[in-house]
Amino acid sequence: MINVRLNDEKTAVVNLDQTLLPGEIKYSELKELDELYEAIFSLRVRGAPAIGIFAAYALYVLAQKIKPDSFESFQKQVLTLSARLDSSRPTAVNLSTQLRRMERLVSSMQDSPVPEILDAMHREAELIQQEDIQMCRAISEHGLSLLKPGMGVMTHCNAGPLATSHYGTALGPILLAQERGFSPKAFCCETRPLLQGARLTSFELYNAGVDVTLICDNMASIIMSEGKIGAIFVGCDRVARNGDTANKVGTSGLAILAKHYGIPFYVCCPSSTIDSACPSGEHIEIELRNPGEIKEMFFESPVAPEGVKCYNPAFDVTCSSLITGIITERGICTAPYNESLNIFTKR
Ligand code: MRU
Repeated sequence: MINVRLNDEKTAVVNLDQTLLPGEIKYSELKELDELYEAIFSLRVRGAPAIGIFAAYALYVLAQKIKPDSFESFQKQVLTLSARLDSSRPTAVNLSTQLRRMERLVSSMQDSPVPEILDAMHREAELIQQEDIQMCRAISEHGLSLLKPGMGVMTHCNAGPLATSHYGTALGPILLAQERGFSPKAFCCETRPLLQGARLTSFELYNAGVDVTLICDNMASIIMSEGKIGAIFVGCDRVARNGDTANKVGTSGLAILAKHYGIPFYVCCPSSTIDSACPSGEHIEIELRNPGEIKEMFFESPVAPEGVKCYNPAFDVTCSSLITGIITERGICTAPYNESLNIFTKR
């Protein structure tokens, strides 16, 4: 199932609303700036690659409504729309990478009539999605080379087909292993507070017939200590030049545990998630979200006193020294990441 696409008239982005899963499968048609912004902000579309694809389509949909009197006014309005979409979430670099790509395309067509620019924007957004499908497939193959039949694989949050266009990144090797008869045993952390692991990852793996076990986040250590985990695969939202990696909050804790138990820890990363302008993890902006997600969401009544303070960072940074390998579409990078990522991202 393709979770992000254009409608037949190409006037709206059709999005599978991830906030309703697994209970309800609902596709929404989104065409207004505020609702497109809200879909990213509220995680109706989520996962770094999917956000980037969604934003590229969104910009194309919005650009069609501009009534320009010159190229300059068209470009100015595209940039304003793009900036607004870009401000919806700060950590996943794919959002700004794909919007900048669309902006560069517009800038390069200043001698073309607007209908031609719009056609080119449509093609570019589709190309971004096609590239993502190929990247995920290649990452899945590279990741699969690290798995042995029947191996226990732990993952966190959701880096599956829902977070991309197909296969996913961290779930790709597990799904491919299942297809090829490797019978992997997946363990997915529920991923508090928004439960992407419980709602989305267990849903995707279970539907694919994978032997998947859901655990609470605080059970990761005991499962590792019991020898059930042969490798950990996670996705990522932004990779700095030195290999420090931002991913869903809780990821760095798993990496620290993995080091303690001697379990290899892999980050799956399409090149669109590598931020070569970012030297190290401390430069990555971490999104802070509403405390209500911790205290109220998913509970019938609040689970903590109304006035109690909550701290709700949506991501954390895993130090590159804890990462066994970064699996990109071009192969598996190892330390020193300053060198290997540089080689793997050169086009
Ligand atoms: O807040 P989310 O659900 O968008 O966070 C998503 C993650 O942390 C994923 O692991 C990451 O985006 C990689 S998706 C291939």
